[in-house]
Amino acid sequence: MKNKVIVRSSFKDIRNFTSIPETRKGIIAEAPETPLIANYAVNSVANFLHPPTQYLKVKQVAEITRDVRAYILEPDTTHGTAKLAYFRPGQSISITMKIGSAVVSRPYTLCSSPLRSIDDEYVIIVKKKPDGFASHYILNNWRKGTEITASSPFGTFYYQPLRDSKNIVGVCDNQGISAFLSMAEAIADESFKIDLTLIYSARKQSEAIMAERLDELAENSPNFRVIYVFSDEHVFKCERGFVTKSLIEKYAPGSKYSLFACGSQTLYNRILPQIAELKLENKFIRFGLNGQIENPAGLPDFPKDAADKTFLCKVMRNGKLIGTVACASTETLLVALEREGIEAPSLCRSGDCGFCRAKLIKGHVFIPNGIDSRRLADSSYGIIHPCCSYPMSDMTLVIN
Ligand code: FES
Repeated sequence: MKNKVIVRSSFKDIRNFTSIPETRKGIIAEAPETPLIANYAVNSVANFLHPPTQYLKVKQVAEITRDVRAYILEPDTTHGTAKLAYFRPGQSISITMKIGSAVVSRPYTLCSSPLRSIDDEYVIIVKKKPDGFASHYILNNWRKGTEITASSPFGTFYYQPLRDSKNIVGVCDNQGISAFLSMAEAIADESFKIDLTLIYSARKQSEAIMAERLDELAENSPNFRVIYVFSDEHVFKCERGFVTKSLIEKYAPGSKYSLFACGSQTLYNRILPQIAELKLENKFIRFGLNGQIENPAGLPDFPKDAADKTFLCKVMRNGKLIGTVACASTETLLVALEREGIEAPSLCRSGDCGFCRAKLIKGHVFIPNGIDSRRLADSSYGIIHPCCSYPMSDMTLVIN
């Protein structure tokens, strides 16, 4: 049975409505002639903190080891960036580069203190990856004066007073050191009021990059200390082995603490079961970006029959077909798009930020367990994150 809907109104409503134009004219006539504000202060602050693009230049290069360099970046005023955006220790910037015919982006965590950005300096550390593409390009090509296009700082791997404890236990390997170095620098210059105990895991002492600087900071700040754990050698006053539950408990404060972990997938795979045994409340456990999965075909949930296949992906933007890209089932859609020179949006490349979101209008993808951060509504409407989606059929994708 249909429901009966009754709408009640009165003649007064119509009469009031007809008087609106006159009222409006009166208000306009009485208004001052001073022009409206073109730029509200809140918009200027928002643009300063989150500029869509930052144009930077390499100010200085410092060699840390043969395969690791620190790059000091400054604003490139000739391209319109007058000041660097402020950030929080633990945040990253995404750098876009044209390498041959490919257009690629990579996130790099800032390792300097945010205070240094007020003096117009960011520092990032670039480490050569054995089968890397962007890291090789940077180490071979960036020199003093190289122009760089970067995003504003992004990411949620930073201390949030409403959620986190002021006592932080950090766990990292050399892939995750930048976030903690930034925190330690900020503790030392007193712009960051927390206590950080860092457990730094490496195979050997020689692989613990930035150890000298960390030791210096620990020596000068009562709120920061660093413990080294080496799996392959005994070193005086350092731990031997791996990061375990009991090792974390040995150095964690007696009171409540937040556990921040950041590093390679090998580190995450090893420490996840140990962290679970600590039985901390979920809100006290934080992870940095995962990065791209190194061997997706080795994941237990990867569809085995798709392992050696390549599929075709039609790519559309603004209602037009902009390319057809061949994509192996073991590479992400984002990597395939970038290889073909298609500028696709991305920031974290870890399935976390949603910046790369695209609509899959035909076809299937594989998204590994545990990295799908899409909202339920997004997944039910075919929205995917190309940075962590692997093709499982020919497909049509709409990107921004
Ligand atoms: S780039 Fe962040 S979710 Fe894809």
